[in-house]
Amino acid sequence: MSEKEISRAVIRRLPRYFRFLGELRDAGVEKISSQDLSLIMHVTASQIRQDLNNFGGFGQQGYGYNVKYLYDEIGKILGLDQEHNVIIIGAGNLGSALAGYGNFANRGFIVKGAFDVNPALVGQYIRNVPIMPMSELPDFIEKNNIDIAVIAIPKTQAVGAAATVVSCGIKAIWNFSHVDLEVPDDVIVESVHLSESLMRLSYNLNRVKEGEEPDTGN
Ligand code: NAI
Repeated sequence: MSEKEISRAVIRRLPRYFRFLGELRDAGVEKISSQDLSLIMHVTASQIRQDLNNFGGFGQQGYGYNVKYLYDEIGKILGLDQEHNVIIIGAGNLGSALAGYGNFANRGFIVKGAFDVNPALVGQYIRNVPIMPMSELPDFIEKNNIDIAVIAIPKTQAVGAAATVVSCGIKAIWNFSHVDLEVPDDVIVESVHLSESLMRLSYNLNRVKEGEEPDTGN
């Protein structure tokens, strides 16, 4: 089956498989059965087999899954076998937290620079990430082979900033501003809304209080 035919639900679950397999690999586990993976991930073993069968030949009957191989293959599907250069638009609370989070680099996402309209921030560093004025953005994107822009500015400004990064050739936007961005078909936007996650938590808290099982979405 080609990757295009794999359901979006399966693709959405891959980062979670990748995370658990990474932990197993780091703990020195070489192989794991779908049953054992099921216990760790709280997903049924049949769901795991169905999901991973989409990609063909990861598991072997009676042997289980080779953890490192599966981790590497899922990493390739997720594009994590290559490095991605990232810029952050907005070096406020959120932008600074993202720029200062060292673990993105371990996954191959290298934050090269942050951009802000506030002159008081320009020239400062968040860890080793320089904060630059927006006027330097086009040149920086071109010279540093940037492929992902993070948008962490007020929503009233986000549409304009997205148009600017797209005009500079950016094809992937990680959008934290609470606005839907209209972009050309060849540009991908992944929007993150922490408040939606918090609402799911609140929903599940209510379910648990009423004696029901939380809806984990698995
Ligand atoms: P903040 O006020 O601390 O930082 C915003 C920064 O953007 C400031 O440094 C400001 O100078 C800069 N800025 C404003 N207009 C700009 C422009 N046109 N170009 C470049 N830089 C510009 O705000 P905070 O807390 O960092 O939040 C930033 C955005 O992220 C807000 O829209 C907020 O609603 C959103 N947010 C989203 C979350 C999510 O889960 N999606 C979570 C937290 C914040």
